Amino acid sequence: MSRKIIMFHNKELDRITGGIPFPSMVLIEGEGGSGKSLVAYQLTWGSLVDGLSVRFITSENTIKGLIRETESMYGFSDYFIRGKLRITEISARGIKWDEKLSRHYLKAIMHFLRKINEEVAVIDSLTHIIVHAKESDVLEFFTTMRNWVDSMNKFLVVTLHTYSIDKSLMTRIRSICDSHIVLKLVTLPTKDIVRMLQVNKVRGAIKTVDNAIFFKADTSFGLKVLPVSYVKVK
Ligand SMILES: Nc1ncnc2c1ncn2[C@@H]1O[C@H](COP(=O)(O)OP(=O)(O)OP(=O)(O)O)[C@@H](O)[C@H]1O
Ligand SMILES: [Mg+2]
Repeated sequence: MSRKIIMFHNKELDRITGGIPFPSMVLIEGEGGSGKSLVAYQLTWGSLVDGLSVRFITSENTIKGLIRETESMYGFSDYFIRGKLRITEISARGIKWDEKLSRHYLKAIMHFLRKINEEVAVIDSLTHIIVHAKESDVLEFFTTMRNWVDSMNKFLVVTLHTYSIDKSLMTRIRSICDSHIVLKLVTLPTKDIVRMLQVNKVRGAIKTVDNAIFFKADTSFGLKVLPVSYVKVK
């Protein structure tokens, strides 16, 4: 099944972004704790609600941990039981990474993705795997997967920590990806910290998206958009 737009199924986010065209390779970048996983969950949720199947590859959590931690916000377990959501764990922590190992992992992920039947794939996150990788291997990964997205009609979401890799490599990755979401932690004058989401690029954008939104993680709602007035007043 091919869809024109993947919606977040979050009213405010959908209103501001207009959703993300399918197929697309989406980069979600931000510093630690900025909300990358949350946005990845939100896109997973939007895809599942619209009847698409999702393969979620996590290097940050266990299958059980992911389902448990998101249950109050998204209720993935129903989809998991029905096989619409499949989760794959990659152990990336506690490993002594080097160029060779990173290359093997990148090749293994490419091979794995080519075999999946799901229309949507999410990798949260690729940071550990590429931080010690050779630049050419990283670029090969993104270029190959970008072509796979188009030729196989897929939607691929990759999360990355902004400051984990060389600036020029990050710039090249951004340009390979079709859609680009940046997350930032913003400290208000009151010292409150809010999260900011900016959609920098959307494939074949239906409307120009230049609005940043502020949000917080809500235990029952997931990604909750804060009104700008709230951020200003605070
Ligand atoms: N289940 C939850 N209930 C309430 N708040 C949550 C929940 N999960 C995450 N959060 C909050 O959302 C914030 C953003 O979390 P998230 O894990 O999406 O960030 P991240 O950018 O993926 O972080 P990292 O770089 O560590 O992977 C967390 O700091 C936490 O405060
Ligand atoms: Mg995360």
